[in-house]
Amino acid sequence: MNDATEQKRPSASAPVTKAVVPAAGLGTRFLPATKATPKEMLPIVDKPAIQYVVEEAVAADLKDVLMITGRSKRSIEDHFDRAYELEEALEAKGDDARLRSVRESSDLAQVHYVRQGEPRGLGHAVLCAEAHVGDNPFAVLLGDDLIESADLLRRMIEVRERRGGSVVALMEVEPEQVSLYGCAGIEPTDEEDVVAVTDLVEKPAPEHAPSRWAIIGRYVCDPAVFPVLHETPPGRGGEIQLTDALRELARRKPEDGGTVHGVLFRGRRYDTGNKADYIRTVVDFACRRPDLADELLPWLRDFVERQDAGRP
Ligand code: UTP
Repeated sequence: MNDATEQKRPSASAPVTKAVVPAAGLGTRFLPATKATPKEMLPIVDKPAIQYVVEEAVAADLKDVLMITGRSKRSIEDHFDRAYELEEALEAKGDDARLRSVRESSDLAQVHYVRQGEPRGLGHAVLCAEAHVGDNPFAVLLGDDLIESADLLRRMIEVRERRGGSVVALMEVEPEQVSLYGCAGIEPTDEEDVVAVTDLVEKPAPEHAPSRWAIIGRYVCDPAVFPVLHETPPGRGGEIQLTDALRELARRKPEDGGTVHGVLFRGRRYDTGNKADYIRTVVDFACRRPDLADELLPWLRDFVERQDAGRP
């Protein structure tokens, strides 16, 4: 990036310090569980999904977290707040371990909230962060998408700080799955796990997909995304799509806040917003917990054996 660009756009060299966590969707795929409970609060073993997401942001040094919440999202605010009565009761019992676990979520980060009055799509949810984020680059972590470690997010931030523009996380999916995701047209760079994004298409039919590399729920956005989102009309599903705004940025010049890079992710990722993946996530996390594995694994093996043998 040359000096002239940096002078024109001070945000070009600003560090990434804020995380935005959209959690205002209706969660219709998980009804009726999500009628009065946000899907981001569904437990993965004994912690709500969204706490893992905030822990990931904090592990990537993003301690300023803005949640985009919607209807019936009070439980999210309560979860990241102090719970004095509960804490007093646990203190009185001398139950230190549980007391620590209860305090963990309220001590984790500086959590802020803004409400998305109407769930008009992920792009619209991100737009609700504009006043909080201002003219700075920021990370977006979807509240129902779990990524095994913070390495991916750290790498994305590092790519943004070196190359400018915006950065998406890409995961290779089976051809018949591309229509579930936003898909990227990509070109290689001189780094093996970093690509230049030339095009983005939201939920394409397999024959129209530019590649099998799908966008997953981690982004680092240049603040230039805000004016673009203001101009982005509702797209697929009548929703304002973040993918559409990023496609526009991919076509722009760096001095206008453009360019999008992709970091290729080959680790484990869990979409807790759909039922089958949610159940897989809970089983996977539980089987890796030392306090549960000994009890759970033999039962699981026996259960599968009985299923295979057609026994009840
Ligand atoms: P999804 O498309 O997975 O969420 O959005 P959804 O609309 O709640 O899901 P279904 O299809 O009805 O089951 C991905 C993320 O973006 C947030 C969601 O909460 C989720 O974390 N989101 C989506 C918003 O915050 N606002 C919206 O208007 C849409």
